[in-house]
Amino acid sequence: MNIIYFEELDSTNTFAKKNIEKYDDGTIIAANKQTNGHGRFNRSWIDFGNKNIFMTFILKPSNRIEKNYANLTQYLSVCVCEVFENFGLKPQIKWPNDILVNGKKISGILAEAVINKNILKGIALGIGINVNAKKTDVDKINIPVTALNLEGVSTEKEILIEKISERFFKNYNLFLHTGFREIKDYYTNHAYLPEKCKIAIFDKTITGEFRGFDDDGQLMIFYNDNLTSINMGEFTE
Ligand code: BTN
Repeated sequence: MNIIYFEELDSTNTFAKKNIEKYDDGTIIAANKQTNGHGRFNRSWIDFGNKNIFMTFILKPSNRIEKNYANLTQYLSVCVCEVFENFGLKPQIKWPNDILVNGKKISGILAEAVINKNILKGIALGIGINVNAKKTDVDKINIPVTALNLEGVSTEKEILIEKISERFFKNYNLFLHTGFREIKDYYTNHAYLPEKCKIAIFDKTITGEFRGFDDDGQLMIFYNDNLTSINMGEFTE
């Protein structure tokens, strides 16, 4: 495994995207501090101090833009949940790829593709994990947030980075071949599901009943008398 540590980066994803041609497939970029981390929907990702995890996998599964690698975020969420379970936690995955412990967000995942002249140069698959945070700091965030130390787990972040990376590459090639079906059972068994699915899709919110995940990892909900598969959006509650 090739894990490259930096003391400080604006964002491990931004760095990985800028330097994607310099690094081989499978390189991991990790930073002790992240000054401008970003998440889905252009939100920022807060650094709660220098013992948290900010890391990005540089992946070059092929150079074909027509291939859909969106499920890699779900695959990574499963790998991280498995590692968390080994620490005695009971993590849940909030579709598509947030990880919750005791109903609070502990980790977020963001994949960004680098495309040049119709060629996929690579994917920056980034993950942030709150390893150490103060309760007073996480309580300032406008959604429920937690950290491993607040859930009774103390670990060195370098050890966790290695465990996650090992778990990730163990079945990575199999996952590229089989896709979401490879993780569907585990993912479904660990899914966080509110009774009513209220999903924000851009500026629209729809409410329906959860009906499972399809073989592509899309959320299936019964809405307006129809079974609908949704591939983009997030739970609003
Ligand atoms: C989300 O929950 O919206 C996704 C958050 C992803 C945060 C990680 S931290 C490491 C990597 N670098 C970034 O700027 N973002 C990702």
